[in-house]
Amino acid sequence: MLVLGGTGQLGRALARTAPATIEIVRLGSAELDVRDAAAVGARLEALRPGVVINAAAWTAVDAAESAAGAAAAVNTAGAAHVARAAERIGARLLQVSTDFVFGGGCGRPLRPDDPAEPLSVYGRTKRDGEAAALGETAGRACVVRTAWLYEVGGHNFVATMLRIMRERESVSVVSDQVGTPTWARSLATALWRFAERPDLAGVFHWTDAGVASWYDFAVAIQEEALATGQLTRAVPVLAIRTAEYPTAARRPAYSVLDGSASWRALDLRPAHWRVNLRRMLEEMA
Ligand SMILES: NC(=O)c1ccc[n+]([C@@H]2O[C@H](COP(=O)([O-])OP(=O)(O)OC[C@H]3O[C@@H](n4cnc5c(N)ncnc54)[C@H](OP(=O)(O)O)[C@@H]3O)[C@@H](O)[C@H]2O)c1
Repeated sequence: MLVLGGTGQLGRALARTAPATIEIVRLGSAELDVRDAAAVGARLEALRPGVVINAAAWTAVDAAESAAGAAAAVNTAGAAHVARAAERIGARLLQVSTDFVFGGGCGRPLRPDDPAEPLSVYGRTKRDGEAAALGETAGRACVVRTAWLYEVGGHNFVATMLRIMRERESVSVVSDQVGTPTWARSLATALWRFAERPDLAGVFHWTDAGVASWYDFAVAIQEEALATGQLTRAVPVLAIRTAEYPTAARRPAYSVLDGSASWRALDLRPAHWRVNLRRMLEEMA
C-alpha cells in the first residue's frame, strides 16, 4: 500500500490504523512530489504497490485563491500523474477528495452524484482532480470525499480552537456553515475497507455521523477539552455569521455528505462526530 500525502493528517491516521498484514509505504512531498509526472511514474514502477491512496493535496483553502496554478499543479495535475502511474502498473487507486466540491445550496445531505459546483479555487482543483483520477483509470478508481478533517498533531480547526481558547477572553465562530467534523482515523478505517474491495469504483462519501456548524463544533471542542483537562477555563463562544468573518475563499453554507451508500457497500457505520472528537481529545490528553 502506497500512501501519497503520507506526512499529512490522513497519512498519519492511515499509519495508526493499518492492519498488521499490510505493508504501508508513506511518502511526503519531499520524498515524492506529485507535480513531477516522471518521478511519480518511476517510483510507482519501482514500488509496485497493490493499492495507492492519494491523500497528497494543496489544502490551504484561502491561499489557493491567489495561487490557483500552484494549487492545481498538486490537486489536479498531481492527481492525474498518480492515476496514470497507478493504472500503468495495475494498482488500485483511492483518490481522496472534499465536500468543498459542492456549492452548498442544496439543503439536504449531498449524494455522490449531486452536481459538483465548487465556490473556491481549492474546490475546483479538487473536483478536477476527481475527474482526472476517474478519467485516467477508465472509471476504476474510487474517489472518496470527506469533510472537516482533524487529527492529533495536524493543522486543523480543533488545534486552532484550543489555541485561541487558551489565549483569548472570548471566541467568535461562524454558525451559518454546516457540515460534519471527521476524525481522520475514522476515514482511514473506511479507506482500509475500500482498499479490500476492488469491485467498488466511482465516487463515495465518508464522514463521521451527524451534522454541526463550526460554532457547534467549537462549543463541543471547549466542553470536551474541559472534561479531558486540555482547557482549564471556559470562555464565551459567540455565534457569528459568515459575513462577519470574511475569508479569501467562499465556503459552502451546507456541505453535509450523504455517506449511506458507503455504509452499505462497506458494511461499516461511522461514529457520531462528537464521540470521535472525545476519543481524539482523550488521546491528546
Ligand atoms: N483537512 C481537511 O479539512 C480536509 C477536508 C476534506 C478533504 N480533505 C482531503 O483529504 C486529504 C488529506 O488531507 P489532510 O488534512 O491529511 O492534508 P494535510 O494534513 O494538509 O497534508 C497534505 C499532504 O499532502 C502532501 N503534499 C502537498 N503537496 C504535495 C506535493 N506537491 N507532492 C506530494 N505531496 C504533497 C503533504 O506533504 P508534506 O507535508 O510532506 O509537504 C502532506 O503529506 C486531501 O486530499 C484533502 O484535500 C481534507
